[in-house]
Amino acid sequence: MKVVIPGGSGQVGTILARAFCQEGHDVVVLSRQPVVRPWRVVAWDGRSPGAWREELDGCDVVINLTGRSVNCRYTVANRDEIQQSRVVSTRLVGRAIAAASPSPRVWLQASTATIYAHRFDRPNDEHSGLLGGDEHDAPDTWRFSIDVARAWEGAFEEAATPNTRKVLLRSAMTLSPDASGVFDTLVRLARRGLGGRAGDGRQFMSWVHESDFVSALRWLMDHDEVSGVVNVASPNPLPNAEFMQVLRQECGAPPGLPATKWMLEIGAMLLQTETELILKSRRVVPARLVEHGFQFHYPDWPAAARELCGRWKQWHQRFRAA
Ligand SMILES: NC(=O)c1ccc[n+]([C@@H]2O[C@H](COP(=O)([O-])OP(=O)(O)OC[C@H]3O[C@@H](n4cnc5c(N)ncnc54)[C@H](OP(=O)(O)O)[C@@H]3O)[C@@H](O)[C@H]2O)c1
Repeated sequence: MKVVIPGGSGQVGTILARAFCQEGHDVVVLSRQPVVRPWRVVAWDGRSPGAWREELDGCDVVINLTGRSVNCRYTVANRDEIQQSRVVSTRLVGRAIAAASPSPRVWLQASTATIYAHRFDRPNDEHSGLLGGDEHDAPDTWRFSIDVARAWEGAFEEAATPNTRKVLLRSAMTLSPDASGVFDTLVRLARRGLGGRAGDGRQFMSWVHESDFVSALRWLMDHDEVSGVVNVASPNPLPNAEFMQVLRQECGAPPGLPATKWMLEIGAMLLQTETELILKSRRVVPARLVEHGFQFHYPDWPAAARELCGRWKQWHQRFRAA
């Protein structure tokens, strides 16, 4: 199988490229900074056509992950890059898929679970989930993220690829022990005593273990009857206070001091990020995957946290010994 991953040099792309490469597939990552990897990396700029388009001719799947990281301050310049990098690259990939011959079988396009409303009462699924943006207490930064997600999904929906099935991945945070990923960051904070509940700790955290993320994408590639929006998240999101308590326990962290909203605002400024990533309630469940019989290997957080922490510790021991 040939898998082409535009924007596949980041956290999620590395998880996928590594897994598909290990299985013996032909993996091609499109990147603005081609470097040597165990898979092929081909140059593109994410904005304009080029020789990279030939890689799509007859490939089996295109997984477009391109987008400036949202882990930054939402300045005017960053906001523009966050939105443009997603919308422009999605249109570009859509046009390249439409022109490819033979056509790719399936296009899996990254979107985000952040598109759903901040809520506590019920989980958001693909059928009855509320899209965000109209919450009366939503800060401007939360509205911005939803505007980006809507524009991103709009660019995908408008792309006409009659011979290629389209699937939109509303993914939760994808957890792997890799350095600098979101899990690594959370573990490091927890081990420094900063793993207490954030705010009142009631906000839900949606997450997915890397092995379930890879399996879900593989499953979506194989199931021709599935197209449109698919939530890629474990079926059991949980409140921040419980999520952090389990993480502290599994990674051997000391009790964590709770952080109030103003403490988080200062911390976010120092870390050059936004509190939205920790304070917004993301209660998202994968109804379509479950209805179609997809089996999660790590549906519950304690077992997922144990496995991830185990590999995180092994990796660090090896790193220190080297
Ligand atoms: N990580 C998660 O848990 C998560 C959850 C939900 C949704 N998502 C979405 O899934 C996608 C992949 O996530 P990720 O964590 O792997 O992201 P990432 O580590 O930030 O990687 C995204 C890639 O996009 C490319 N890129 C960045 N800025 C760009 C720009 N201005 N123009 C063109 N390309 C640019 C970069 O590749 P080069 O520098 O090599 O060109 C980068 O490696 C993102 O769109 C993200 O919003 C991620």
